Amino acid sequence: MGTRRRRVSVIYFISKLVKWDDLRMEIISNPTQVEMKKAAQALKDGHLVAFPTETVYGLGADATNQNAVSRVYSVKARPTDHPLIVHISSINQLGKWAVDIPEYAVTLAEQFWPGPMTLILKRSEIAKDFITGDQENVGVRVPAHQAAQNLLKEFENLGGLGVVAPSANRFGKVSPTKSNHVKEELGKALMSSDLILDGGPSQIGIESTIVSCLDSKPLILRPGAITTQMVERATGLHVIEANLNKSIKAAGLLSSHYSPKAKVILDQIPHPGDGFLAMSNIPTPEGAIRLASPENLEQYAKELYSALRLGDDKNLAKIYVDLPVGTGLGEAIRDRLRKSAY
Ligand code: TXA
Ligand code: MG
Repeated sequence: MGTRRRRVSVIYFISKLVKWDDLRMEIISNPTQVEMKKAAQALKDGHLVAFPTETVYGLGADATNQNAVSRVYSVKARPTDHPLIVHISSINQLGKWAVDIPEYAVTLAEQFWPGPMTLILKRSEIAKDFITGDQENVGVRVPAHQAAQNLLKEFENLGGLGVVAPSANRFGKVSPTKSNHVKEELGKALMSSDLILDGGPSQIGIESTIVSCLDSKPLILRPGAITTQMVERATGLHVIEANLNKSIKAAGLLSSHYSPKAKVILDQIPHPGDGFLAMSNIPTPEGAIRLASPENLEQYAKELYSALRLGDDKNLAKIYVDLPVGTGLGEAIRDRLRKSAY
């Protein structure tokens, strides 16, 4: 073999060993404090940083940087009139983003932050149209995940005011609950200067409860781990649950969302070769491919999106899901599944 041919075949061989996509997008596992500071600096410099939260992984950008925020929309292929949630490290930062905050909203923030709850409030001057989708209100959340807390604190130490972070998936698709979900779905759309932080699987697994606090009573726009009953008990107020009110721009209120490639079919019997998801006490119908067997509602929420993704990884055309019963988290899981099946 000539030298030239040998060189070509060596290059070919190496290119087979190296996965170029892996080189492009690095996942930083269990980031150290130094890496966290670098990630915060990356946000401050206008780059995107995907990070874990206790609900799902978010795709973060400096909430005051229009260019960075517009990249979030394009990476997600999300319509620009869909507002983003601003993430802050503690309730102490809330006054920067919101004004005229009703007393019951303060009560909710004190009780459930840091945690899986987003409050919709009247926006301050800092919350520009490019994050609110031209609305006069803003969504704010204080996540509890330690890595999210660290990142936000480091970002605020650098003078940052807040980080927008939609779920780190393509618009309308299944939210990521692990760092490799983010890489698989958005890796190609991200740049080498962007980052993905890994903090293990999201502990809750479905997105935060969204509570609109624009009226005299709280209105639940998206159910989640903070349940209607918990909001009522904390505030002493009767809570209204939103019903597909099209005038409010919340994906939680879209009839179709959270969809895998496979067709999701609810409460019917699968055929051999179809995917199947149900509580552990329900046996797998003959020939169906079991995607998860959660033992309780907490586990169902935690495993739901991984199970839907697993169905896609296995190239299944259909996933049959047995809807869980029960109030609280059960309602939130049914809400996501009905939309993914729509
Ligand atoms: O758990 C969560 O909330 C995750 C993690 C990463 O924090 N984030 C998340 O963001 O789910 P996203 O963008 O995927 O969903 C947020 C929902 C969207 O449906 C958006 O339309 C709605 O919140 N939303 C945001 N700001 C709003 C506002 N001002 N008024 C009404 N809805 C709003
Ligand atoms: Mg989302």
